[in-house]
Amino acid sequence: MPETAYSEVSRLEHLWGGEFGNDYVDRNRDAQNGREPFWKNLTARYEIENVLEVGCNVGANLYWLNRYMESRSVFGVDINEKALKELKKRNPEVNAIWSPAKELPFRDRYFDLVFTTGVLIHQTPASLPMVLSEIVRCSRKYVLCAEYFAEELTEIPYRNQRGALFKQNYGKIYQDLFPKLSLVEKGFLSKETGGWDDVTYWLFRKY
Ligand SMILES: C[S@@+](CC[C@H](N)C(=O)[O-])C[C@H]1O[C@@H](n2cnc3c(N)ncnc32)[C@H](O)[C@@H]1O
Repeated sequence: MPETAYSEVSRLEHLWGGEFGNDYVDRNRDAQNGREPFWKNLTARYEIENVLEVGCNVGANLYWLNRYMESRSVFGVDINEKALKELKKRNPEVNAIWSPAKELPFRDRYFDLVFTTGVLIHQTPASLPMVLSEIVRCSRKYVLCAEYFAEELTEIPYRNQRGALFKQNYGKIYQDLFPKLSLVEKGFLSKETGGWDDVTYWLFRKY
């Protein structure tokens, strides 16, 4: 990665690892509310024995996965220590691990499902391929992302930070970079239904 791109990645990692990320934790303690139907439905329809969320924060998704996956083999990584501490306190059965998304500490094909919700949008365009390739590497069956959508790369101002939030067609980027991923389903999770913030999700099967 060129040096300027590398320093942009460090900038965002420090941002989420520090006070900015801690404040996000405080604002989103109840983020799991409204997300139950999505995860209950998904785990009922697909065979998923173990799962990894990249950028899990306090566990708004992992809380439900831990409830609906019989195996309870649930892992989350995040770069913010406060989020992980809170996750462990609330869900002691969940494996909460500190790690930057660009180098996941797991073996190839270790998880049935690896996913992000609202995390790819916070990666710089330069580091995104590295993060996606780590996600795909760690999955043996499914990859899912639920992110803000735009046809073209669009930067959105975010809490007085520059270069911290990008909308784009994340599903297309996955498919362009990893042609062996095949789209299983795609949908929209609206604000109105509760729990989600008008995000588009894509579920891919990896062969
Ligand atoms: C907007 S929050 C989304 C949290 C959670 N996925 C959800 O849907 O409720 C973004 C999360 O990703 C984490 N994060 C951002 N960049 C990261 C990176 N490069 N590596 C690991 N975690 C990261 C942040 O610390 C934060 O917990």
